[in-house]
Amino acid sequence: RAAADPYRPEFHFTAERNWLNDPNGLVYLNGTYHLFYQHNPFGPDWGNMSWGHATSPDLLHWDEQPVAIPCDEREAIFSGSAVFDEHNTSGLGTAGNPPLVAIYTSAYSDPSPLAGRQAQSLAYSLDEGTTWTKYSGNPVLDRASADFRDPKVFWYDGAGGSYWVMAAVEAVERQVVLYKSADLTNWQYLSTFGPANATGGVWECPDLFELPVDGKPGETMWVLIVNINPGGIAGGSAGQYFLGAFDGVEFRSESTVTEGLQQDGSRMREYGWLDWGRDYYAAVSFSGVADGRRIMIGWMNNWDYAGSTPTGGWRSAMSLPREVSLARLDGKMVLRQTPVDPFAGQESPSFSLGPQALASGIQQLPVAAAVARLDVVFQPGAATRVGLVVRAGAAERTVISYDVADGVLRLDRRKSGRADFHAAFPSVEAVAVPLRDGRLRLSVHLDRCSVEVFAQDGLATITDLVFPAEASTALAVFAEGGGAHLVALDVVGR
Ligand code: FRU
Repeated sequence: RAAADPYRPEFHFTAERNWLNDPNGLVYLNGTYHLFYQHNPFGPDWGNMSWGHATSPDLLHWDEQPVAIPCDEREAIFSGSAVFDEHNTSGLGTAGNPPLVAIYTSAYSDPSPLAGRQAQSLAYSLDEGTTWTKYSGNPVLDRASADFRDPKVFWYDGAGGSYWVMAAVEAVERQVVLYKSADLTNWQYLSTFGPANATGGVWECPDLFELPVDGKPGETMWVLIVNINPGGIAGGSAGQYFLGAFDGVEFRSESTVTEGLQQDGSRMREYGWLDWGRDYYAAVSFSGVADGRRIMIGWMNNWDYAGSTPTGGWRSAMSLPREVSLARLDGKMVLRQTPVDPFAGQESPSFSLGPQALASGIQQLPVAAAVARLDVVFQPGAATRVGLVVRAGAAERTVISYDVADGVLRLDRRKSGRADFHAAFPSVEAVAVPLRDGRLRLSVHLDRCSVEVFAQDGLATITDLVFPAEASTALAVFAEGGGAHLVALDVVGR
């Protein structure tokens, strides 16, 4: 991290140089997590879309690898997924050396005869992702559409049979289309889902996976992820999810609130949102992770201003990886998200407070941090508002507050530092979160230019970029309108 580069994260992946957007081809194989990503190898703005590549043993320390799948003058390499084709169903490897197969969107342009179309293509690797070859029969799935993209492929093994399933979007139609295949090269149409719930923008980057209910492997629900831009809950880009059933052909949602193309956004807060902040987009999950663990990564940015973030020669980071599971909240099934903890294994917190009264007012902590995890449990009691101030300096601060009367958690970055690079950047995010036994538990991850808040053990999350001065590292807790009780506070930092 150069001294002149105060925003380069320590635990969030960034490309050494140049532009990055969606995570692609998330796959775990033989002890290595592979993160491919939308990348412009030639500049800090969107363009020349290719798949960059990074590898990690632990999802926190990443090594950037050479560009895996480069664009050429006829096709840009848009988002998609990767699978380990263990039984060489594709025939692209051998029984003794089965291939890693990437399924990506070819966005064709002149001089391709398919110019203007988006269709699905394959590339494969016979050396665990080091080198890649584009399949000679590309594209493998073409609907003659200009907005058919972002294929997520998984192996389905259920009552309906065993085969590959692809979820992709007809982005403008706000639809997820499902296909099946025995060999990754020949695809048959299964069904279409949508429009439903949030439809105020194009649908992009879908995912479909199964999770156990109440930790019982036999009892499951299916999760359909649909990223949307614009029209997200906090404005611009965001991820929504549907919970329901998948029988190998059709996804049937049990969490649809509104069907069809709704213009009226009044029920937005009833939809399932992966994150209630401004900067968690294009989130999809890893394939091949052991023990049925489902781990997602999102692009920590928003198309509203992604081209303007003030980070110099590199642009954009990935979120912390998050393990997702199902939980019940007020009798309703929701997704719980638990981040991979950068400080796991670090013995003792750098600062701790035990149970104590919190008088009305603001109390600065005798510890400062730009890269840290803060765990706090409030019992608001007589207070009307409680919260945390992070990345504070003389003239700037990011405020995380909980309003007791309406049960709403907010993240306010209006005065968080540099915010004037785009009119859409200054913002306040909000999510309703009920107290549990009168308590609010927050886990907040700070890294150079980001704040990720996990409330009530990950039942609601808010992810926002912030660009404070490097020296703005002060931390504080506060109560307003009356005294509160601070049950515990731990700061783990470096
Ligand atoms: C989402 C997205 C995808 C597309 C890619 C292009 O952010 O628009 O739909 O494949 O980015 O970079």
